[in-house]
Amino acid sequence: MRLTKTADQWWKTAVLYCASVQTFLDTNGDGRGDLEGMTSRIDYLADLGITCLWLMPFYPTADADDGYDITDFLTVDPRDGDLADFVSLVQVARSRGIRVIIDFVMNHTSDQHPWFKESRKSVDNPYRNYYVWRSSTPPDTSAAVVFPDVEDSLWELDERTGEYYLHNFYKTQPDLNVANPEVREQISKVMGLWLQLGVSGFRVDAVPFLFAVDDVPAKEREFQYDPHDTLRHLKAYCGRRDSDVILLGEVNVPYKDQKKFFGGADGDELTMQFDFIGMQAIWLALARGDARPLAKALAGRPALDESNQYANFLRNHDELTLDKLTDAERQEVFDAFGPDPDMQLYDRGLRRRLPPMLGGDPRRIRLAYSLMFSLPGTPCLFYGEEIGMGENLDIPGRYSVRTPMQWGPNATGGFSTAKPRSLVRPIPEGPYGPARINVSDQRSDPDSLWTFMSTLIRRYRQSPEIGWGAVQVLKHDQPSVLAHLVQQEDWAMVAVHNLGDEPVSVSLSFDGVLDRDLTGPAAPAPVDHLAGLLHGGRVELDGKGGFDVDLDGYGYRWLRVVREGDIRIA
Ligand code: GLC
Ligand code: CA
Repeated sequence: MRLTKTADQWWKTAVLYCASVQTFLDTNGDGRGDLEGMTSRIDYLADLGITCLWLMPFYPTADADDGYDITDFLTVDPRDGDLADFVSLVQVARSRGIRVIIDFVMNHTSDQHPWFKESRKSVDNPYRNYYVWRSSTPPDTSAAVVFPDVEDSLWELDERTGEYYLHNFYKTQPDLNVANPEVREQISKVMGLWLQLGVSGFRVDAVPFLFAVDDVPAKEREFQYDPHDTLRHLKAYCGRRDSDVILLGEVNVPYKDQKKFFGGADGDELTMQFDFIGMQAIWLALARGDARPLAKALAGRPALDESNQYANFLRNHDELTLDKLTDAERQEVFDAFGPDPDMQLYDRGLRRRLPPMLGGDPRRIRLAYSLMFSLPGTPCLFYGEEIGMGENLDIPGRYSVRTPMQWGPNATGGFSTAKPRSLVRPIPEGPYGPARINVSDQRSDPDSLWTFMSTLIRRYRQSPEIGWGAVQVLKHDQPSVLAHLVQQEDWAMVAVHNLGDEPVSVSLSFDGVLDRDLTGPAAPAPVDHLAGLLHGGRVELDGKGGFDVDLDGYGYRWLRVVREGDIRIA
């Protein structure tokens, strides 16, 4: 691995951890987490092994979308702390080798944002073009709304001027007109502020919606609209401030469309994107106990420029969206992991966390995370995944998975000294309550999920080919098994995962896949054996590059390719 390249490409092998300030740790007893609480748990995150913390919104908000409806981009919600608390958090994180990236919502603001309050005043207000207005009656957009339980159109009539404004999300989240150079200027300025305060990048919210204004009559848009130009502009701006800044985009689109959000040949738009397609394929594969949907997805995953990366995840703070599966496939996942209508959301997803979906079966839970960490890209955990937290379905909508972090066994999960009923959200009771699931018990238990997760994180960090490499799915005849090779130069590892509950033996071969592009004097030495990275042990090759791997039901192995005369540490 060319280490010289890694300095400003830290994100190639990062381990991301998403957390919300409000649900992590409360230090002043008001029942709501705060920046000081987050700072005091940086050592915990360092101990777990994560290298980059993604903070969900902590800006002043009108509280209509858990902070994604921002009223001021330039500061911190006073309930969370102040700017100095934010800077302390970033500094402490840095001192422990953890970078901080922050959620950045540039598609919309709250309708309480001063820009929108101005914009809606009159058609010639200086802020009018900060948002997307139309005077003519909008077409029927009911099929395109993101939150069909409360919205039935992307356009809202504003009485005062008799015109309609665009809102892809709630009507209290008017879409910014990012085509307007003044808006772009404002966005750059905001990014400049947070970069100066020490962040290493942004998780860019809802990227495709920046593009989703195709039905706006051109004459009603004052500016020529090229959203790719906006992304390029922002990336370049960030790069000029700091060469190692990332833009991590939330882009849930088919693979064939995803590539363009990374930009041109040199990847000059988003640095990273979440792999929503791979994630949905994993869930379908888990539901079927059949690895082929995932093998198919990986085969179709576009290869990326070295300056880009996928972020792999199984769950996040929203519903588990299954919108890219067919109706029949989605139904299969619903039947397997969320049969109760109360577990489902908007006909497209499940408002659950992973362990209850997998019936609390430790074998399946570990299999799923092993798979996620072995896929080329950068793994991303949602807080609480490391201890196997469950959802609280008593909480409406997507917030069911955003309950307070469970640090200890008491009724507030050690999250706050406030009364349990005064917490920002109620902690789940029963098998996923803090008495059973908490950090304190698991951190000292060598057999806990926490310990397993910290081992996975360490192994991922010891296997740079996963972050840097390309993937090839290996052929064999066991439908329940995914066997994939990741290689980068002379680093390579094979991961083998059995999604079925029956033990299997798989015959694999490197013939025609390993070292494909590495010939001539630079070619690495022949393979000596495969070394087990997670469970130890070794696998020998036959004379022709073939080898057999035995797996239990839901079993998995990570196998490093060790070459003759290899002096790398195992
Ligand atoms: C993104 C966020 C989601 C939020 C929406 C609107 O999809 O992940 O939580 O509601 O954007 O900002
Ligand atoms: Ca607090």
